Amino acid sequence: MDVGCFSGAMLNRINQELPSNFRDRVSYVGIDSDQDAMQHGSNKYGLITFVQTNLEKKINLVKQYDVIILCNVLHELFPNEEIEIRRERIKSVFQGVSKLLNGEGEIILLDGIRPNDADKEIEIELVNETWRKKFEKLVKEYTAVSLTLKNISKNKIKTNKFTLSVFLTKARYLDKEYWTSEAEQLYQYFSAKDFEGMINKSGLHVEEVTPQALEIEKATEMIIISSLSEELPAKNVLIVAKNC
Ligand SMILES: C[S@@+](CC[C@H](N)C(=O)[O-])C[C@H]1O[C@@H](n2cnc3c(N)ncnc32)[C@H](O)[C@@H]1O
Repeated sequence: MDVGCFSGAMLNRINQELPSNFRDRVSYVGIDSDQDAMQHGSNKYGLITFVQTNLEKKINLVKQYDVIILCNVLHELFPNEEIEIRRERIKSVFQGVSKLLNGEGEIILLDGIRPNDADKEIEIELVNETWRKKFEKLVKEYTAVSLTLKNISKNKIKTNKFTLSVFLTKARYLDKEYWTSEAEQLYQYFSAKDFEGMINKSGLHVEEVTPQALEIEKATEMIIISSLSEELPAKNVLIVAKNC
């Protein structure tokens, strides 16, 4: 099951990656609130059963899934809630999803995370003036939360790990026509530890936690990596969990 599947492209991709003699033994269910996206996927892929579902409400489905994926969906839920309410609600989503999982089944989560020491001050050098200006644009125009920036000299700046992590995830949207709506959306609400806590309290047990930084080749297009006194901050996390 893919929770927040949009058009089901990931399930289709998983099916393509499986050995052909295995495909007959797998069935796919995608759930999402976006009926148009699922209709598009239904016409395009054929193999997925789609169920329109609002994850902010109780999920009325039957327990039968061996693998449940939640990829880049949780950060979109409960957009208007304060962080502590959001934490409780997301814990309930994990509880709801855990009830759909077969005994030995696994939940696979991928979503944005706040880096550890989010407020820690760091210095970085942008590769050129264009990227320094883009960093300034991001800090000025990002409306989801306030970001930090002090210019030091030429392309050197002082910021914090959280701001750098937002820059690394949002920089590719800075020149897009939909930048204004991207600027309103936060990708990293919780740390990996927060997610672990929510999952462990929802009747699931975390088996594996893998924080992921932006690929180094992409980061080096924007910042001079050697100017960083520490590793690139993680931008998202992959967590595997099972029923207790
Ligand atoms: C960023 S997209 C991720 C899509 C896909 N999982 C992927 O990784 O490409 C987030 C998805 O969550 C869905 N979504 C947002 N809020 C939802 C809600 N309340 N209930 C169900 N799905 C929701 C959106 O419709 C969208 O398909």
